[in-house]
Amino acid sequence: MTSKSFPYGRFIYFVTGNIHKYFEARQILAEFNIASAMLKIKVSEIQDDDVENVAKTSAKEAAKTSGLPIIVEDAGLFIEALNGFPGPYSKFVYNTIGLKGVLRLLGNEQKRAAYFKSVVAFCDSEGTVETFSGIVEGIIANKIRGTSGFGFDPIFEPKGKLGKTFGEMSIEEKSSISHRSQALRKFAKWYRKNFQS
Ligand code: IMP
Repeated sequence: MTSKSFPYGRFIYFVTGNIHKYFEARQILAEFNIASAMLKIKVSEIQDDDVENVAKTSAKEAAKTSGLPIIVEDAGLFIEALNGFPGPYSKFVYNTIGLKGVLRLLGNEQKRAAYFKSVVAFCDSEGTVETFSGIVEGIIANKIRGTSGFGFDPIFEPKGKLGKTFGEMSIEEKSSISHRSQALRKFAKWYRKNFQS
């Protein structure tokens, strides 16, 4: 893609209804001098085995509805002993059985490896989509620990920081390694290269 002049300068709308996701994204984008705003518009989240397809479809719909260049992010928790479950169904699982339910499903299982995957999808007002992904590996803790963050943060211990869940970390510490920060950093580098202010 050739370098384009972007009418709003280095600025991007992050479409989400999740304020925690936005706070994480805002900080990371700011590292690249990209200003952002949270745009809360209703977009349908398709059911698909691949979080990339979910993010892409939502991004296209959000750009069409708003008429603005936007990013959407979709993530999932993949647990090895459960053959990747809940993966793209993470939201449903979180809202139904929750953290306690996931811990119950795993029981005394010794193999507790898991990873988070994040896909950031950018879509411009012409419907062109680009995606960027990030993965963080870790394990599912034995019990709920910590009150920071959101979702499965209190039961996920990332590799390299075993003994500490995302829920026990500051937003900065989580973002130094998280799936979302990796995907957003890839997006930010691409955006700066392709869209001049
Ligand atoms: P979403 O569809 O991207 O909003 O994510 C699906 C579900 O995964 C959410 O309901 C959260 O419970 C969970 N999730 C996504 N990202 C994270 C994260 O960074 N930490 C903990 N849980 C997350």
